[in-house]
Amino acid sequence: MTETKHLLGLLLGTEEDWPGAFEQLVRRYDPALQVGGQTHRYDVERITIEPFDLRQPSRYDLVVDRLAYWYYVPREWLKKVALMDDTYLLNNPFTFQSMEKHAAYCAMIRLGLKVPETWLVPHKQPPDNPRFPYTAAKYNRFFDIGEVAEKVGYPLYMKPYDGGAWVGVTRIKDQEQLRTAYDESGERLMHLQASVEGFEVFARSLSIGAETMVMKFAPDRPMHDRYSVDHAFLAPEVGDEVVTIGKIVNAFFTWEFNSCETLVRDGQVHPIDYANACPDVAITSLHYYFPWAMKALVKWSLFCTATGRQPRVDLETRSWYDVADGGGSYEEKLAVYRRMADDYFQQEQYAEFCATHLSDFDRIAVEYFASSEFDRLLVETVRSTFPAHEHEQFVAHYRGLLAAWVRDQG
Ligand SMILES: Nc1ncnc2c1ncn2[C@@H]1O[C@H](COP(=O)(O)OP(=O)(O)O)[C@@H](O)[C@H]1O
Ligand SMILES: [Mg+2]
Repeated sequence: MTETKHLLGLLLGTEEDWPGAFEQLVRRYDPALQVGGQTHRYDVERITIEPFDLRQPSRYDLVVDRLAYWYYVPREWLKKVALMDDTYLLNNPFTFQSMEKHAAYCAMIRLGLKVPETWLVPHKQPPDNPRFPYTAAKYNRFFDIGEVAEKVGYPLYMKPYDGGAWVGVTRIKDQEQLRTAYDESGERLMHLQASVEGFEVFARSLSIGAETMVMKFAPDRPMHDRYSVDHAFLAPEVGDEVVTIGKIVNAFFTWEFNSCETLVRDGQVHPIDYANACPDVAITSLHYYFPWAMKALVKWSLFCTATGRQPRVDLETRSWYDVADGGGSYEEKLAVYRRMADDYFQQEQYAEFCATHLSDFDRIAVEYFASSEFDRLLVETVRSTFPAHEHEQFVAHYRGLLAAWVRDQG
């Protein structure tokens, strides 16, 4: 049998925790997968940044990227390897870099999801361009932001159209706060969005390939305490709807590593933030769910490379819009979208691949997360994340949560 060696590349910024765990897990497992008449073997490497010849073929079969969202050298390298080398990228670089929150809102409103009422308002501080005064005098219509806010209704959120990490997000109760926030928004382009008041649950779902984990989230808590370990905080059908919404967003935009925030009120699921490609997967935020994330990342990487899953950079918006425009209830459309998303993610083939080829992986993962090798990584991560006087407390905190995960694997 011929042997194929796959190189998995990690494109990283400052993080050491999850890349260390990913590398250790792959090396400990040391896959030798018999698929398609070949033995597939693996290595992992951290990608360095340097000048590159556009014609130089990529050495990587698959890249997990947590860097290109702010650093443009690797961003352009990702586009090159996507267009020229068929390197498998978990997120389509052509959409996650151009489809900011605003585009994601538009697309999901078009599909009929329950995105709260949202308006875009022109910049408070217009673009610094000598053409602006003439253009504005001729074409910008005078508007009163107070009137827009009245249409959206109070309380509302003012937030950047391309936002992330809470930057520039303001909750607004009245005209006075509105005007202050708008003055402060300066050159940032803003949305006004109706607040989903009195929601029962904030559910944050993290998707990695065909897998999605829905977690109960408290955005206003400190980082270590935002996700709670709770397996039954949603009614089963609501939980399934949250999973479906995350998968729809991801299949629509061809994102395979993304998070989706939804607010559940009176059993209705309102997605509010779901263009978070390359989401945070730090041990210190995910804690109990960290092993799930690492396992999913390894399994999806093996599945894509061993089966030769083709990366896709083009979108098939029309097939989604046909469903959106074709009539039927919200529930009916959601069911069709779910099938389309499951097809996109090869849900059945993935499950079968895991059962057939990765049957010993779960056991090895449990051994790894219970090992002193992982414990050292955890302690180092706590030391580099928290001030010295908190080390003892947080090492115990995270050890407890990770041990609970190991126990729960039975
Ligand atoms: N429409 C809304 N209704 C209720 N809360 C909201 C709404 N929009 C935003 N928020 C609150 O503000 C936070 C930040 O907004 P979000 O859209 O998630 O921006 P970011 O991309 O910066 O995370 C959310 O986590 C949520 O707590
Ligand atoms: Mg958010």
